[in-house]
Amino acid sequence: AYDCQSYTYEDIQESGNFLLKNTKYRPSIGIICGSGIGSLAESLTDKECFPYKRIPHFPVSTVRGHMFQLVFGLLDGVPVMCMQGRCHYYEGLPICKCAMPVRVMKMVGVKYLIATNAAGGINENYKVGDIMVVKDHVNFMGLAGVNPLRGFNDDRFGSRFPSVSRAYDIALRALAKKIGTDMGIENYMHEGVLSCAGGPSYETVTELRAMKLLGIDAAGMSIAHEVIVACQSGMTVFAFSLITNKCPTTYDSTHVPDHEEVMKVGNSRENMLKEFVSRMVLHMQCT
Ligand code: 6GU
Repeated sequence: AYDCQSYTYEDIQESGNFLLKNTKYRPSIGIICGSGIGSLAESLTDKECFPYKRIPHFPVSTVRGHMFQLVFGLLDGVPVMCMQGRCHYYEGLPICKCAMPVRVMKMVGVKYLIATNAAGGINENYKVGDIMVVKDHVNFMGLAGVNPLRGFNDDRFGSRFPSVSRAYDIALRALAKKIGTDMGIENYMHEGVLSCAGGPSYETVTELRAMKLLGIDAAGMSIAHEVIVACQSGMTVFAFSLITNKCPTTYDSTHVPDHEEVMKVGNSRENMLKEFVSRMVLHMQCT
């Protein structure tokens, strides 16, 4: 028997049809709101909310500090669907289930994925509260075989061997940079490389030093597997991390990352993040 039982295409159709039947929205933009960024979903107007547990086949999450629902609504007048909270691999689900909601987004017509998370800053220039636009990822889970595409491939989802070498759309990254300048937040914005580890423990000092040597700028526990699935399906991807803590990269570091701190930073950046994402979707809508 295979140890990797994913959802069938028909399962995803069932999830998608449930949503299409119950919402008036037909968004072309899907947003995954990570830790501390969930208030973005709350700020939508004319909301239609679907708790994950009511959506057929949807994986259900347990980590504290997250709300678990799909929110359809308008972000500054633009129709979007937001995942308020996501499942993480460390909760015990297979990775294909963690990434499954992206296939549902695709099924209901989403063309642009905006993935966000909280991440630890490795790059010395990054400060707590900064935004890092993701230009590439190092998926440690994936390299070790924990890949959402592992197992039988239904070609209706996309290629057996998709390339992810240009996953993070270059035009959207340029747009983000321009928006950052227009907003006067260019000093808090960076473009960098995100790692994805399985968690839930944070990295050791040596692991973080190794990441630094590899050219990784921030450490996280999500996004990579979701982006792999999005990329396979032909979606255009934009991703950014909110830097919620600095990673200890010397052996005498006294500051250690903790989850409470991670959640607090998101709240303090609520308005800036909302403005930034609103401006991004306004432009996406026009293309
Ligand atoms: Cl330090 N590491 C990882 N993998 N994810 C994080 C983090 C660190 N801080 C917030 N998220």
